[in-house]
Amino acid sequence: MIPKEVIEEIVARTDIVQLISGYVTLKRAGSNMVGLCPFHSERSPSFTVFQGTNSFYCFGCSAAGDAISFVRRIENLDYPDAVEFLAKRVGITVIDTDVHETRSRFDRKRMLEMNREAAHFFHDELFKDNPEAATAREYLLGKRALARATVNHFGLGYAPNTFDTLTKRLRSLGYTDDELVAAALARRSEKTGNLYDYFRGRVMFPIIDVTGNVIAFGGRVLDDTKPKYLNTSDTPVFKKTRNLFALNFARGECAERLILCEGYMDVIAMHAAGFPQAVATLGTAITQDQARIMSRYTKRVVISYDMDEAGRHAADKAMKLLEEVGVEVTLLRLPSLPGVKDPDEYIRAAGADAFRKVLDGSQSKFDYTLDKILSKYALNDPQEKIRALAELREAIAGFPSSAEREVYIGVVADKFSIPAKSVREDVERALARNRRTYKKKEGETLRQSITGYQDRINPEFSKTPGIARNEETVLGLLLLDPTYRAALHRDPPVLTEDDFLTAFSRRVFCAVRDKIGDGEWEISALNEDFTPEEIGRIFGMRNRRMQLTENGDKLFSDCVAALKEAVAKEKITASDDPMAALEQVLKNKRSDTKGEE
Ligand code: GTP
Ligand code: MN
Repeated sequence: MIPKEVIEEIVARTDIVQLISGYVTLKRAGSNMVGLCPFHSERSPSFTVFQGTNSFYCFGCSAAGDAISFVRRIENLDYPDAVEFLAKRVGITVIDTDVHETRSRFDRKRMLEMNREAAHFFHDELFKDNPEAATAREYLLGKRALARATVNHFGLGYAPNTFDTLTKRLRSLGYTDDELVAAALARRSEKTGNLYDYFRGRVMFPIIDVTGNVIAFGGRVLDDTKPKYLNTSDTPVFKKTRNLFALNFARGECAERLILCEGYMDVIAMHAAGFPQAVATLGTAITQDQARIMSRYTKRVVISYDMDEAGRHAADKAMKLLEEVGVEVTLLRLPSLPGVKDPDEYIRAAGADAFRKVLDGSQSKFDYTLDKILSKYALNDPQEKIRALAELREAIAGFPSSAEREVYIGVVADKFSIPAKSVREDVERALARNRRTYKKKEGETLRQSITGYQDRINPEFSKTPGIARNEETVLGLLLLDPTYRAALHRDPPVLTEDDFLTAFSRRVFCAVRDKIGDGEWEISALNEDFTPEEIGRIFGMRNRRMQLTENGDKLFSDCVAALKEAVAKEKITASDDPMAALEQVLKNKRSDTKGEE
């Protein structure tokens, strides 16, 4: 475990306003700073940074926490990496390597070092003086026309077509068989139980995260064998749905726009041609997580997928997910050239300047939709024309800006030679209907959040909402005021974990009692045991108490009493004395809401 003092030192040295200003434009509002929340899309700022308590809180989406939780969310890092990220920033060295062991039984740091060794191994193999390596070099430098500098920049390599060369190498460096298998660098043969290398006879693409760690690999065959690509499966240090190839290079270059590609080779070709904003998903379709990550680095994404049916389909999905996170999306349209189906081939055939023109002329979502609809219908047939118009009306109604809608209404009216007025009326009708549907859905979500239904953080909340609310009141007071916390260490303690019915509250209670000292506010101690979402919830408990500090003592003792009673009732209901159970139920009927505000 990382020593508490080190964490405190890191958090204390971090100026939270300065840290968050690197991601969010903050304006002063009274003694605090406010800005647009980076964790949900909003038009007026509800994201607040409290310099006094070194914390942040979003009144819109309840994201909350300290510098560590902020970094975890915004940089998509897990706890140990977030600590290291901040430590680097303030110039502290985290010596304790155990910090990496908190989440799994494998040592994260060792696994990352092992991956780095493997990357070196593959890279060295590529430049060995033997026929196999020469063939691999010919593939990358010849057939794929990569410059030697590009191969080095991406750390490309070659996995020799042998049984266990890498396995032996890694063993000789002291890594265990279990570690090799867990990192997906080797597999265990079912028949013999021996280990063999996972990647064999492939050119290798290391996947590097934004902090510079080698976390995984992709490997491509040199011919038409299947499967064409092999990718590292999820491991303790890698989750393919939460990483993007080349984001480590693109992150500093992509404030203006980010280019999303389908394949490693497309990304590499783009970087080599002077477009370092290119990234790719890792052998899977884009996920919500990846869309959210992209939205943190850029305002605009150019989707640059293959021009075939599958690529188009994938582009539709990417467009939808990226729009959901508030990113402006455009689509690259490669001019058709013989033998060209993806950006890599286009750049090789037409050159970087031609590609820049294509990139700058990437299509807006509307143009893309218009093209797609127009090509689907035979417009000289009146029925088909009506269907095309119906689809376009829906598409236009989907744009939030009325100015934008007005422009597209004009385009469609022109295209179909009908008065703009009638297109506009159709669009208005679709809009009104969409708004009604939205209202209904919103009401539903609100109802769910009030009743605690679908509470992902504390799924037991809805079973006993009265009691769960009391639990949160108690926890909020404990978090707010060290004097209540002191009462937990009295003999006997005023409250123990057995007084909590929901497992989440119990966990929070134990952490508050065991990890938080008697300082004013030391949420940082909780980062290790809770996800950023959970931290948000915990902050919420405390913030609600801040608005109601009067008569805190009475509230505290009432709630504690209510909790103890609820637990007693639970116990008796579980026992088989029917009379006692009945008595208890009647008693609790009256006290169930006691202590609630
Ligand atoms: P080449 O130019 O032929 O090297 O490939 P590409 O980069 O054009 O890739 P392609 O469009 O064929 O595929 C896009 C991406 O999908 C690749 O970069 C891989 O990440 C992934 N992919 C392709 N083929 C396979 C496969 O057989 N298995 C897996 N798991 N992923 C694949
Ligand atoms: Mn390709």
